[in-house]
Amino acid sequence: MPLSTTAGVSPDAPVLLRAEKLSHAFDYPLFENIDLTIRENEKVAVIGVSGSGKSTLLHILATLLKPQHGRVELLGSDVYTLTPKQQLAIRRYEIGIIFQFHYLFKGMSAAENVEIATLLSETEPDEALLRRLGIESVMHQRVTELSGGQQQRVSIARVLSKNPRLIFADEPTGNLDDETAHTVMETVFEHIEKVEGALFLVTHDERIADSCDRVYRLEHARLERVR
Ligand SMILES: Nc1ncnc2c1ncn2[C@@H]1O[C@H](COP(=O)(O)OP(=O)(O)O)[C@@H](O)[C@H]1O
Ligand SMILES: [Mg+2]
Repeated sequence: MPLSTTAGVSPDAPVLLRAEKLSHAFDYPLFENIDLTIRENEKVAVIGVSGSGKSTLLHILATLLKPQHGRVELLGSDVYTLTPKQQLAIRRYEIGIIFQFHYLFKGMSAAENVEIATLLSETEPDEALLRRLGIESVMHQRVTELSGGQQQRVSIARVLSKNPRLIFADEPTGNLDDETAHTVMETVFEHIEKVEGALFLVTHDERIADSCDRVYRLEHARLERVR
């Protein structure tokens, strides 16, 4: 079953993310003068070889790393000019970050892991979401008793339960079998639609990239539009 594709995003839909002239280097320049705009209901995928700077770009867009040059605007706020407290509020209420390797609290049950996120963001755990991800019957179990794929789904449930409008996903399906990867991405796409949000996705999976509205390759320090 193919992942659902979108009808296309109106060119005058509100801008949720705007990045201007981003440059960043570690030992060597990773990228220079990158511009990117993502509008309401838009899903953008980035591909590129290992070491090209995809995760660094994601961290910069997601408030986690100040770029050496350039600016990032999320929901109208110039992120790296905000106070730490204002940044924390955006991170807590508006942003969901899905990593390839989840960061669950191992000593706790799956349900407790989700509850921590919902307590912080003042939302409620979403039963329908847990059913959609196929983890409703394992929520009482300790994280360490779950399979890797179940743990990853719990971590995605934890992120989506915060009800964020901006989702940043860094190879979220890298450790999942095809069928689970498909369910996870459908769930993320449904979430974006529900909250009229935006997705910035780094992935190696071409099929998943193709189901996004735009695809870029990070190469030679540039973000080249592929599709
Ligand atoms: N905090 C850091 N300090 C120094 N070098 C880093 C840091 N983070 C990433 N790098 C380097 O930057 C390059 C790009 O890393 P990354 O953004 O993780 O690429 P990708 O996600 O495309 O594989 C790599 O060479 C990596 O070693
Ligand atoms: Mg990476």
